[in-house]
Amino acid sequence: MTESITIVDNRTGNQLEIPIRHGGVAASEWQKLLPGIWIFDPGLTATAACESSVSFVDGEQGILRYRGYPIEELAERSNYLEVAYLLLHGELPTAAQFSEWRHDVTYHTYIHENVRKRFLEGFHYDAHPMGMLVSAVAALSTFYLDAKEIFDPEARQRQVIRLIAKMPTLAAAAHRFSVGMPFVYPDNSLEFCSNFLSMMWKVAEPRFDANPTLARALDILFILHADHEQNCSTTAMRVVGSSHADPYSCCAAACAALYGPRHGGANEAVIRMLQEIESMDNVPAFVESVKAGHGRLQGFGHRIYKSYDPRAKIIKRTADEVFAITGKNPLLDIALKLEEIALADEYFTSRRLYPNVDFYSGLIYQAMGFPLEMFPVLFAIPRTAGWLAHWQELLDQDSKIVRPRQLFVGSEPRPYVPIGDR
Ligand code: ACO
Repeated sequence: MTESITIVDNRTGNQLEIPIRHGGVAASEWQKLLPGIWIFDPGLTATAACESSVSFVDGEQGILRYRGYPIEELAERSNYLEVAYLLLHGELPTAAQFSEWRHDVTYHTYIHENVRKRFLEGFHYDAHPMGMLVSAVAALSTFYLDAKEIFDPEARQRQVIRLIAKMPTLAAAAHRFSVGMPFVYPDNSLEFCSNFLSMMWKVAEPRFDANPTLARALDILFILHADHEQNCSTTAMRVVGSSHADPYSCCAAACAALYGPRHGGANEAVIRMLQEIESMDNVPAFVESVKAGHGRLQGFGHRIYKSYDPRAKIIKRTADEVFAITGKNPLLDIALKLEEIALADEYFTSRRLYPNVDFYSGLIYQAMGFPLEMFPVLFAIPRTAGWLAHWQELLDQDSKIVRPRQLFVGSEPRPYVPIGDR
Protein backbone atom coordinates (compact mmCIF):
# COMPACT_ATOMS: atom_id res chain seq x y z
CA MET A 1 0.00 0.00 0.00
CA THR A 2 1.36 3.43 -0.95
CA GLU A 3 1.29 6.11 1.73
CA SER A 4 -0.20 8.73 -0.58
CA ILE A 5 -3.45 9.99 -2.06
CA THR A 6 -4.22 10.85 -5.68
CA ILE A 7 -6.43 13.82 -6.47
CA VAL A 8 -8.00 14.41 -9.86
CA ASP A 9 -9.19 17.73 -11.28
CA ASN A 10 -12.31 16.57 -13.14
CA ARG A 11 -12.38 19.80 -15.15
CA THR A 12 -9.07 19.05 -16.84
CA GLY A 13 -8.37 15.39 -16.04
CA ASN A 14 -5.05 16.42 -14.47
CA GLN A 15 -4.09 14.38 -11.44
CA LEU A 16 -1.51 14.57 -8.69
CA GLU A 17 -0.19 12.11 -6.16
CA ILE A 18 0.50 13.59 -2.74
CA PRO A 19 2.43 11.70 -0.03
CA ILE A 20 0.82 11.27 3.39
CA ARG A 21 3.31 12.48 6.04
CA HIS A 22 2.64 12.11 9.79
CA GLY A 23 -1.02 11.41 8.94
CA GLY A 24 -1.51 14.52 6.78
CA VAL A 25 -1.24 15.78 3.22
CA ALA A 26 0.45 19.10 2.49
CA ALA A 27 -1.87 21.83 1.19
CA SER A 28 1.12 23.30 -0.67
CA GLU A 29 1.19 20.13 -2.82
CA TRP A 30 -2.57 20.29 -3.35
CA GLN A 31 -2.15 23.86 -4.51
CA LYS A 32 0.06 22.75 -7.39
CA LEU A 33 -2.92 21.01 -9.01
CA LEU A 34 -5.71 23.26 -7.78
CA PRO A 35 -4.49 26.87 -7.37
CA GLY A 36 -7.35 29.10 -6.20
CA ILE A 37 -9.46 26.19 -4.88
CA TRP A 38 -9.49 26.56 -1.11
CA ILE A 39 -10.15 23.87 1.47
CA PHE A 40 -13.29 25.00 3.30
CA ASP A 41 -12.83 24.14 6.96
CA PRO A 42 -14.56 26.51 9.43
CA GLY A 43 -13.49 25.64 12.99
CA LEU A 44 -10.38 23.99 11.47
CA THR A 45 -11.80 20.58 12.32
CA ALA A 46 -9.84 18.86 9.54
CA THR A 47 -6.83 21.15 9.28
CA ALA A 48 -3.43 20.56 10.85
CA ALA A 49 -2.02 24.08 11.00
CA CYS A 50 1.43 22.99 12.20
CA GLU A 51 3.74 20.13 13.06
CA SER A 52 4.21 19.87 16.81
CA SER A 53 6.00 17.64 19.28
CA VAL A 54 4.71 19.18 22.52
CA SER A 55 1.72 17.02 23.39
CA PHE A 56 -0.11 14.07 21.89
CA VAL A 57 -3.84 13.45 22.14
CA ASP A 58 -5.70 10.37 20.92
CA GLY A 59 -9.36 11.26 21.30
CA GLU A 60 -10.60 7.80 20.37
CA GLN A 61 -8.54 6.02 23.04
CA GLY A 62 -8.61 8.81 25.63
CA ILE A 63 -4.81 9.26 25.66
CA LEU A 64 -2.88 12.41 26.55
CA ARG A 65 0.92 12.58 26.68
CA TYR A 66 3.27 15.52 27.20
CA ARG A 67 6.51 15.00 25.25
CA GLY A 68 5.76 11.26 25.27
CA TYR A 69 5.04 10.94 29.01
CA PRO A 70 1.52 9.68 29.89
CA ILE A 71 -0.52 12.31 31.76
CA GLU A 72 -1.42 9.72 34.42
CA GLU A 73 2.26 9.19 35.33
CA LEU A 74 3.01 12.90 35.37
CA ALA A 75 -0.02 13.64 37.56
CA GLU A 76 1.00 10.91 39.98
CA ARG A 77 4.77 11.39 40.15
CA SER A 78 5.74 14.81 38.87
CA ASN A 79 4.94 18.40 39.85
CA TYR A 80 3.78 21.41 37.85
CA LEU A 81 7.15 23.18 37.68
CA GLU A 82 8.87 20.03 36.43
CA VAL A 83 6.11 19.52 33.84
CA ALA A 84 6.47 23.14 32.71
CA TYR A 85 10.20 22.51 32.19
CA LEU A 86 9.41 19.32 30.27
CA LEU A 87 6.97 21.10 27.96
CA LEU A 88 9.35 23.99 27.34
CA HIS A 89 12.58 22.02 26.95
CA GLY A 90 11.35 18.71 25.58
CA GLU A 91 13.04 16.65 28.32
CA LEU A 92 12.58 16.18 32.05
CA PRO A 93 15.18 18.22 33.97
CA THR A 94 18.12 16.68 35.82
CA ALA A 95 18.26 17.48 39.54
CA ALA A 96 20.66 20.37 38.84
CA GLN A 97 18.56 21.74 35.97
CA PHE A 98 15.40 21.55 38.09
CA SER A 99 17.05 23.32 40.98
CA GLU A 100 18.15 26.18 38.69
CA TRP A 101 14.73 26.32 36.99
CA ARG A 102 12.90 26.44 40.34
CA HIS A 103 15.25 29.15 41.56
CA ASP A 104 14.76 31.24 38.41
CA VAL A 105 10.98 30.96 38.47
CA THR A 106 10.84 31.75 42.20
CA TYR A 107 13.18 34.72 41.76
CA HIS A 108 10.83 36.29 39.18
CA THR A 109 7.51 36.02 41.03
CA TYR A 110 7.42 39.72 41.95
CA ILE A 111 5.65 42.15 39.65
CA HIS A 112 6.76 45.73 39.10
CA GLU A 113 5.07 47.98 41.66
CA ASN A 114 3.57 50.07 38.89
CA VAL A 115 1.80 47.03 37.41
CA ARG A 116 -0.09 46.84 40.68
CA LYS A 117 -0.38 50.47 41.71
CA ARG A 118 -0.94 52.24 38.44
CA PHE A 119 -2.37 49.48 36.37
CA LEU A 120 -4.29 46.85 38.40
CA GLU A 121 -5.65 49.39 40.85
CA GLY A 122 -7.06 51.38 37.93
CA PHE A 123 -9.77 48.78 37.30
CA HIS A 124 -13.37 49.25 38.37
CA TYR A 125 -14.01 47.79 41.82
CA ASP A 126 -16.06 44.83 40.47
CA ALA A 127 -13.81 44.00 37.49
CA HIS A 128 -13.79 40.33 36.46
CA PRO A 129 -10.38 38.88 37.43
CA MET A 130 -9.98 37.21 34.02
CA GLY A 131 -10.51 40.55 32.27
CA MET A 132 -7.87 42.00 34.60
CA LEU A 133 -5.49 39.13 33.83
CA VAL A 134 -5.86 39.49 30.05
CA SER A 135 -5.01 43.18 30.28
CA ALA A 136 -2.27 42.81 32.90
CA VAL A 137 -0.42 40.16 30.87
CA ALA A 138 -0.50 42.42 27.81
CA ALA A 139 0.69 45.35 29.94
CA LEU A 140 3.78 43.39 31.03
CA SER A 141 5.21 43.79 27.52
CA THR A 142 5.55 47.52 28.22
CA PHE A 143 7.68 46.77 31.30
CA TYR A 144 10.17 44.47 29.56
CA LEU A 145 11.50 46.14 26.47
CA ASP A 146 13.73 43.15 25.65
CA ALA A 147 10.51 41.15 25.10
CA LYS A 148 10.69 42.11 21.44
CA GLU A 149 14.02 40.31 21.08
CA ILE A 150 12.27 37.04 20.32
CA PHE A 151 15.18 35.57 18.34
CA ASP A 152 17.71 36.27 21.10
CA PRO A 153 17.78 32.95 23.07
CA GLU A 154 18.64 34.60 26.40
CA ALA A 155 15.98 37.31 26.10
CA ARG A 156 13.45 34.71 25.05
CA GLN A 157 14.26 32.54 28.07
CA ARG A 158 13.94 35.57 30.37
CA GLN A 159 10.39 36.26 29.19
CA VAL A 160 9.45 32.58 29.48
CA ILE A 161 10.60 32.52 33.12
CA ARG A 162 8.93 35.84 33.87
CA LEU A 163 5.61 34.72 32.44
CA ILE A 164 5.56 31.36 34.26
CA ALA A 165 6.60 33.09 37.50
CA LYS A 166 4.33 36.13 37.39
CA MET A 167 1.06 34.53 36.31
CA PRO A 168 0.17 33.35 39.87
CA THR A 169 1.09 36.77 41.26
CA LEU A 170 -1.11 38.58 38.71
CA ALA A 171 -3.90 36.05 39.19
CA ALA A 172 -3.94 36.44 42.99
CA ALA A 173 -3.62 40.23 42.69
CA ALA A 174 -6.67 40.31 40.39
CA HIS A 175 -8.65 38.28 42.93
CA ARG A 176 -7.57 40.36 45.92
CA PHE A 177 -8.49 43.55 44.12
CA SER A 178 -11.89 42.24 43.03
CA VAL A 179 -12.80 41.39 46.65
CA GLY A 180 -11.28 44.53 48.16
CA MET A 181 -8.42 42.77 49.96
CA PRO A 182 -4.85 44.15 50.10
CA PHE A 183 -2.25 42.72 47.72
CA VAL A 184 -0.06 39.96 49.19
CA TYR A 185 3.55 39.85 48.02
CA PRO A 186 4.99 36.48 46.98
CA ASP A 187 6.65 34.48 49.76
CA ASN A 188 9.57 32.96 47.92
CA SER A 189 10.31 30.49 50.70
CA LEU A 190 7.22 28.59 49.51
CA GLU A 191 6.74 26.17 46.62
CA PHE A 192 4.94 27.34 43.49
CA CYS A 193 1.37 26.32 44.42
CA SER A 194 1.72 27.06 48.16
CA ASN A 195 3.02 30.50 47.25
CA PHE A 196 -0.01 31.10 45.04
CA LEU A 197 -2.37 29.95 47.81
CA SER A 198 -0.59 32.28 50.23
CA MET A 199 -1.09 35.22 47.86
CA MET A 200 -4.75 34.26 47.54
CA TRP A 201 -5.73 33.66 51.16
CA LYS A 202 -3.23 35.27 53.54
CA VAL A 203 -4.80 37.80 55.91
CA ALA A 204 -2.75 39.00 58.90
CA GLU A 205 -0.65 35.96 59.78
CA PRO A 206 3.13 36.36 59.29
CA ARG A 207 3.26 33.28 57.04
CA PHE A 208 0.47 31.37 55.32
CA ASP A 209 1.03 27.63 55.27
CA ALA A 210 -1.36 26.00 52.83
CA ASN A 211 -2.77 22.59 53.64
CA PRO A 212 -0.32 20.25 51.85
CA THR A 213 -3.14 18.07 50.44
CA LEU A 214 -4.83 21.11 48.93
CA ALA A 215 -1.53 22.47 47.56
CA ARG A 216 -0.81 19.07 45.99
CA ALA A 217 -4.36 18.87 44.54
CA LEU A 218 -3.85 22.27 42.93
CA ASP A 219 -0.47 21.12 41.61
CA ILE A 220 -2.16 18.09 40.00
CA LEU A 221 -4.82 20.31 38.44
CA PHE A 222 -2.05 22.55 37.11
CA ILE A 223 -0.28 19.52 35.58
CA LEU A 224 -3.50 18.41 33.90
CA HIS A 225 -4.14 21.86 32.46
CA ALA A 226 -0.58 22.63 31.34
CA ASP A 227 -1.05 21.73 27.67
CA HIS A 228 -3.53 20.22 25.26
CA GLU A 229 -2.08 20.53 21.75
CA GLN A 230 -3.87 22.84 19.31
CA ASN A 231 -6.83 24.00 21.41
CA CYS A 232 -8.47 27.41 20.89
CA SER A 233 -6.16 29.44 23.16
CA THR A 234 -2.98 27.71 21.97
CA THR A 235 -4.07 28.39 18.41
CA ALA A 236 -4.59 32.05 19.36
CA MET A 237 -1.05 32.05 20.82
CA ARG A 238 0.36 30.58 17.62
CA VAL A 239 -1.62 32.88 15.33
CA VAL A 240 -0.47 36.03 17.13
CA GLY A 241 3.03 34.59 17.57
CA SER A 242 3.24 34.03 13.83
CA SER A 243 3.24 37.82 13.39
CA HIS A 244 6.34 37.90 15.65
CA ALA A 245 4.58 39.84 18.40
CA ASP A 246 6.26 39.70 21.84
CA PRO A 247 5.29 36.76 24.12
CA TYR A 248 3.28 38.91 26.56
CA SER A 249 1.02 40.15 23.76
CA CYS A 250 0.71 36.57 22.45
CA CYS A 251 -0.17 35.27 25.94
CA ALA A 252 -2.76 38.03 26.39
CA ALA A 253 -4.43 36.86 23.16
CA ALA A 254 -4.33 33.26 24.40
CA CYS A 255 -5.84 34.34 27.75
CA ALA A 256 -8.61 36.17 25.88
CA ALA A 257 -9.41 32.99 23.93
CA LEU A 258 -9.46 31.05 27.20
CA TYR A 259 -11.98 33.49 28.70
CA GLY A 260 -14.86 32.19 26.54
CA PRO A 261 -17.44 29.76 28.01
CA ARG A 262 -16.77 27.21 25.27
CA HIS A 263 -13.15 26.93 26.43
CA GLY A 264 -11.75 28.05 29.80
CA GLY A 265 -15.10 29.32 31.06
CA ALA A 266 -16.68 25.86 30.91
CA ASN A 267 -16.02 24.82 34.54
CA GLU A 268 -17.70 28.02 35.75
CA ALA A 269 -20.63 27.13 33.48
CA VAL A 270 -20.72 23.63 35.05
CA ILE A 271 -21.14 25.06 38.55
CA ARG A 272 -23.84 27.47 37.39
CA MET A 273 -25.61 24.56 35.69
CA LEU A 274 -25.42 22.38 38.83
CA GLN A 275 -26.70 25.27 40.95
CA GLU A 276 -29.58 25.76 38.54
CA ILE A 277 -30.46 22.04 38.68
CA GLU A 278 -30.54 22.48 42.48
CA SER A 279 -31.39 18.90 43.50
CA MET A 280 -30.83 15.34 42.35
CA ASP A 281 -34.57 14.97 41.70
CA ASN A 282 -34.37 17.59 38.96
CA VAL A 283 -31.57 15.85 37.05
CA PRO A 284 -33.73 13.68 34.72
CA ALA A 285 -35.86 16.67 33.65
CA PHE A 286 -32.74 18.73 33.05
CA VAL A 287 -31.20 16.05 30.85
CA GLU A 288 -34.45 15.86 28.86
CA SER A 289 -34.42 19.64 28.32
CA VAL A 290 -30.83 19.44 26.99
CA LYS A 291 -31.88 16.65 24.62
CA ALA A 292 -34.78 18.82 23.46
CA GLY A 293 -32.23 21.44 22.43
CA HIS A 294 -32.39 23.81 25.44
CA GLY A 295 -28.72 24.48 26.08
CA ARG A 296 -25.89 22.01 26.53
CA LEU A 297 -24.69 19.78 29.27
CA GLN A 298 -21.75 21.86 30.45
CA GLY A 299 -18.53 19.92 31.00
CA PHE A 300 -19.63 17.28 28.52
CA GLY A 301 -18.32 16.72 25.03
CA HIS A 302 -15.02 17.60 23.43
CA ARG A 303 -13.86 18.34 19.93
CA ILE A 304 -11.13 15.71 20.18
CA TYR A 305 -12.09 13.26 22.95
CA LYS A 306 -14.75 10.84 21.81
CA SER A 307 -14.28 8.77 24.96
CA TYR A 308 -13.74 9.64 28.65
CA ASP A 309 -11.29 12.55 28.94
CA PRO A 310 -8.26 11.02 30.77
CA ARG A 311 -7.88 14.23 32.76
CA ALA A 312 -11.46 13.93 34.06
CA LYS A 313 -10.64 10.48 35.52
CA ILE A 314 -7.64 11.85 37.44
CA ILE A 315 -9.62 14.86 38.63
CA LYS A 316 -12.39 12.66 39.97
CA ARG A 317 -9.84 10.90 42.19
CA THR A 318 -8.31 14.20 43.31
CA ALA A 319 -11.78 15.46 44.24
CA ASP A 320 -12.13 12.76 46.89
CA GLU A 321 -8.84 13.80 48.52
CA VAL A 322 -9.86 17.47 48.53
CA PHE A 323 -13.35 16.80 49.89
CA ALA A 324 -11.82 14.76 52.73
CA ILE A 325 -10.25 18.06 53.90
CA THR A 326 -12.83 20.65 52.86
CA GLY A 327 -16.00 18.59 53.26
CA LYS A 328 -17.95 17.39 50.26
CA ASN A 329 -19.12 19.95 47.76
CA PRO A 330 -22.92 19.66 47.97
CA LEU A 331 -23.12 19.88 44.17
CA LEU A 332 -21.08 16.67 43.79
CA ASP A 333 -24.10 14.36 44.15
CA ILE A 334 -25.93 16.25 41.41
CA ALA A 335 -22.86 16.00 39.17
CA LEU A 336 -22.51 12.25 39.77
CA LYS A 337 -26.22 11.71 39.06
CA LEU A 338 -25.98 13.79 35.91
CA GLU A 339 -22.99 11.78 34.69
CA GLU A 340 -24.74 8.49 35.49
CA ILE A 341 -27.90 9.44 33.58
CA ALA A 342 -26.09 10.98 30.61
CA LEU A 343 -23.72 8.03 30.19
CA ALA A 344 -26.71 5.67 30.04
CA ASP A 345 -28.60 7.81 27.52
CA GLU A 346 -28.52 7.14 23.79
CA TYR A 347 -28.46 10.88 22.95
CA PHE A 348 -25.07 11.29 24.67
CA THR A 349 -23.57 7.88 23.87
CA SER A 350 -24.43 8.07 20.15
CA ARG A 351 -22.76 11.50 19.95
CA ARG A 352 -19.91 10.20 22.08
CA LEU A 353 -20.30 12.92 24.68
CA TYR A 354 -18.39 12.14 27.89
CA PRO A 355 -17.32 14.28 30.87
CA ASN A 356 -14.38 16.52 29.99
CA VAL A 357 -11.71 18.02 32.26
CA ASP A 358 -14.07 20.79 33.34
CA PHE A 359 -16.88 18.63 34.64
CA TYR A 360 -15.22 18.05 38.03
CA SER A 361 -12.46 20.68 38.23
CA GLY A 362 -14.92 23.44 39.17
CA LEU A 363 -16.24 21.39 42.09
CA ILE A 364 -12.72 21.09 43.48
CA TYR A 365 -11.94 24.76 42.98
CA GLN A 366 -15.20 25.74 44.63
CA ALA A 367 -14.59 23.42 47.61
CA MET A 368 -11.13 25.01 47.98
CA GLY A 369 -12.79 28.42 48.28
CA PHE A 370 -12.08 29.91 44.86
CA PRO A 371 -14.86 32.15 43.54
CA LEU A 372 -16.34 31.14 40.17
CA GLU A 373 -14.79 34.15 38.45
CA MET A 374 -11.35 32.77 39.26
CA PHE A 375 -11.86 29.48 37.39
CA PRO A 376 -10.60 30.63 33.98
CA VAL A 377 -7.75 32.43 35.76
CA LEU A 378 -6.78 29.15 37.45
CA PHE A 379 -6.71 27.55 34.01
CA ALA A 380 -4.52 30.30 32.54
CA ILE A 381 -1.75 29.93 35.16
CA PRO A 382 -0.58 26.45 34.13
CA ARG A 383 -1.61 26.71 30.47
CA THR A 384 0.98 29.49 30.15
CA ALA A 385 3.64 26.73 30.07
CA GLY A 386 1.92 25.04 27.12
CA TRP A 387 1.33 28.32 25.30
CA LEU A 388 5.00 29.24 25.61
CA ALA A 389 6.18 25.78 24.52
CA HIS A 390 4.11 26.13 21.34
CA TRP A 391 5.29 29.70 20.82
CA GLN A 392 8.96 28.63 21.05
CA GLU A 393 8.30 25.73 18.71
CA LEU A 394 6.64 28.03 16.19
CA LEU A 395 9.60 30.43 16.22
CA ASP A 396 12.10 27.60 15.93
CA GLN A 397 10.19 26.24 12.94
CA ASP A 398 10.41 29.66 11.28
CA SER A 399 6.68 29.35 10.52
CA LYS A 400 4.88 31.55 8.05
CA ILE A 401 2.50 34.24 9.30
CA VAL A 402 -0.97 32.70 9.70
CA ARG A 403 -3.17 34.08 6.98
CA PRO A 404 -6.04 31.77 5.96
CA ARG A 405 -8.16 32.21 2.84
CA GLN A 406 -11.94 32.71 2.65
CA LEU A 407 -14.74 31.66 0.34
CA PHE A 408 -16.27 35.02 -0.57
CA VAL A 409 -20.09 34.98 -0.38
CA GLY A 410 -20.75 38.77 -0.34
CA SER A 411 -22.31 41.05 -2.90
CA GLU A 412 -21.21 41.67 -6.47
CA PRO A 413 -19.54 45.05 -7.22
CA ARG A 414 -21.97 47.97 -6.80
CA PRO A 415 -21.61 51.75 -6.89
CA TYR A 416 -21.53 53.88 -3.75
CA VAL A 417 -24.88 55.57 -3.01
CA PRO A 418 -24.74 58.97 -1.22
CA ILE A 419 -26.44 58.87 2.20
CA GLY A 420 -29.29 61.15 1.13
CA ASP A 421 -30.22 58.80 -1.73
CA ARG A 422 -30.42 55.52 0.28
N1 ACO B 1 -24.53 18.82 25.57
C1 ACO B 1 -25.48 18.39 24.69
N2 ACO B 1 -25.25 18.17 23.39
C2 ACO B 1 -23.98 18.38 22.95
C3 ACO B 1 -22.94 18.79 23.81
C4 ACO B 1 -23.26 19.01 25.16
N3 ACO B 1 -22.31 19.41 26.04
N4 ACO B 1 -21.79 18.91 23.10
C5 ACO B 1 -22.10 18.58 21.83
N5 ACO B 1 -23.42 18.25 21.76
C6 ACO B 1 -24.13 17.76 20.56
C7 ACO B 1 -24.43 18.90 19.60
O1 ACO B 1 -25.71 19.46 19.85
C8 ACO B 1 -24.38 18.17 18.27
O2 ACO B 1 -25.57 17.45 18.12
P1 ACO B 1 -26.26 17.31 16.65
O3 ACO B 1 -25.27 16.52 15.85
O4 ACO B 1 -27.54 16.64 16.90
O5 ACO B 1 -26.41 18.71 16.15
C9 ACO B 1 -23.26 17.15 18.46
O6 ACO B 1 -23.24 16.89 19.89
C10 ACO B 1 -21.87 17.66 18.02
O7 ACO B 1 -21.63 18.92 18.65
P2 ACO B 1 -20.64 20.03 18.09
O8 ACO B 1 -21.02 21.36 18.66
O9 ACO B 1 -20.58 19.92 16.60
O10 ACO B 1 -19.27 19.54 18.66
P3 ACO B 1 -17.93 20.38 18.75
O11 ACO B 1 -16.83 19.41 18.64
O12 ACO B 1 -17.95 21.54 17.81
O13 ACO B 1 -18.01 21.01 20.22
C11 ACO B 1 -17.65 21.47 22.50
C12 ACO B 1 -17.19 20.67 21.27
C13 ACO B 1 -17.63 22.97 22.21
C14 ACO B 1 -16.68 21.20 23.66
C15 ACO B 1 -19.08 21.00 22.88
O14 ACO B 1 -19.11 19.62 23.18
C16 ACO B 1 -19.66 21.80 24.04
O15 ACO B 1 -20.21 22.89 23.81
N6 ACO B 1 -19.52 21.31 25.31
C17 ACO B 1 -19.99 22.03 26.46
C18 ACO B 1 -18.96 23.10 26.84
C19 ACO B 1 -17.72 22.49 27.45
O16 ACO B 1 -17.77 21.61 28.29
N7 ACO B 1 -16.53 23.00 27.01
C20 ACO B 1 -15.24 22.58 27.54
C21 ACO B 1 -14.43 21.88 26.52
S1 ACO B 1 -12.93 21.28 27.26
C22 ACO B 1 -11.90 22.63 27.35
O17 ACO B 1 -12.00 23.59 26.64
C23 ACO B 1 -10.88 22.58 28.38
